[in-house]
Amino acid sequence: MKTVQVSLGERSYDISVSDDLFTSGAAVGLLAPFAKGVKVLIVSDFNVFPLYGELLERTLQVAGASAVAQSVFPAGETSKHLETICGICRIAARAGLDRGSLVVGLGGGVVGDMAAFAASIYMRGIRCVQIPTSLLAMIDSGVGGKTGVDLPEGKNLVGTFYQPKAVLMDTMFLTSLPEREMANGFAELIKHAVLFDRTLFDELEAAGDTLFRDHSRLASLVARSCVLKAGVVSRDERERGERMLLNLGHTFGHAIEKVQDYRGLEHGEAVAVGIAAAARLSARLGLLAAASAERIAALLRQYRLPVTVSGCTTAALMDAMASDKKAVSGVPRIVLPLAIGRAEVRTDVPREAIEAVWEEVREQS
Ligand SMILES: NC(=O)c1ccc[n+]([C@@H]2O[C@H](COP(=O)([O-])OP(=O)(O)OC[C@H]3O[C@@H](n4cnc5c(N)ncnc54)[C@H](O)[C@@H]3O)[C@@H](O)[C@H]2O)c1
Ligand SMILES: [Zn+2]
Repeated sequence: MKTVQVSLGERSYDISVSDDLFTSGAAVGLLAPFAKGVKVLIVSDFNVFPLYGELLERTLQVAGASAVAQSVFPAGETSKHLETICGICRIAARAGLDRGSLVVGLGGGVVGDMAAFAASIYMRGIRCVQIPTSLLAMIDSGVGGKTGVDLPEGKNLVGTFYQPKAVLMDTMFLTSLPEREMANGFAELIKHAVLFDRTLFDELEAAGDTLFRDHSRLASLVARSCVLKAGVVSRDERERGERMLLNLGHTFGHAIEKVQDYRGLEHGEAVAVGIAAAARLSARLGLLAAASAERIAALLRQYRLPVTVSGCTTAALMDAMASDKKAVSGVPRIVLPLAIGRAEVRTDVPREAIEAVWEEVREQS
């Protein structure tokens, strides 16, 4: 088992990663400090709870929980709204959760964002433990303490920063994760490698497609990725500087998702196109070697991710980019890789260069 510490003063916590946390019984010891003698509410979705809910319930009982209740809702982004949060809090109230109780999120990023949001506001904040079950949640949403829900007006518009007490990542859960969801997670893993870690990039290249099945090897790469993201979060929890780097591929990716009205590419896929586009843009501006941009695109394809998009006009994509919530006065902030393993945030990229890259990304589709 690998342990990664997220250092945030008194709010510091450990992320534990392996492919047998639950089968080895290690999960009991990891949960006991928070679950012993208290009421626990498991928050999960209709896909994940039937697969792993019972296992978690039993583990919590062995860890000494005084009672275990559950709030389970339909899977997917369409559940990620305030009414679901209200439902979770009402179930918590009916189950008698008090200020000493615990919320445990068991699921992908949607479950994690909502479990932690509900925990952060129920009785002005009760403890939360995260058990991410999708690769995306292990690589991305399970680290960093951003919580929240969508409004009809936009995604993730309401939320809090709220750090969990512990995160348990068991890659055994990924055996049931559909391949497309695995690929979505790999997009964010490749993002971390491009941003911070050349060796991780080389290892992902060398792994071929074995990581889709080799959950033990994947666990060690998940832990490496957590170290990278945890480092950024420790240094810049509120996204005032360095944490913005984590938006690599996202300014382009969000524009695609928005133009497709969230019914086209999935988030990780749109980010993959975005990472490839950012690399192309950087090469076009002379900031990244063309061969490195090509290697980045090839690695994304190796992990069954798209690097081009069809059916969107450049004008619509440019508009969507200008209205991105992280744009400053309509000027998009773009993260550009400078080499494999190094990147920087730029606000001075000429509009024509961005347009030209959108044209290329569309042309090849
Ligand atoms: N808080 C953050 O910092 C942060 C970062 C990135 C993404 N997010 C959020 O995360 C969400 C996306 O996360 P996601 O891709 O995990 O979405 P998700 O939670 O919808 O999970 C994707 C699908 O996989 C299913 N699933 C999850 N684990 C499974 C398993 N082990 N076996 C079988 N099926 C499983 C889910 O039921 C769902 O159908 C978005 O809402 C996004 O805004 C948050
Ligand atoms: Zn993302």
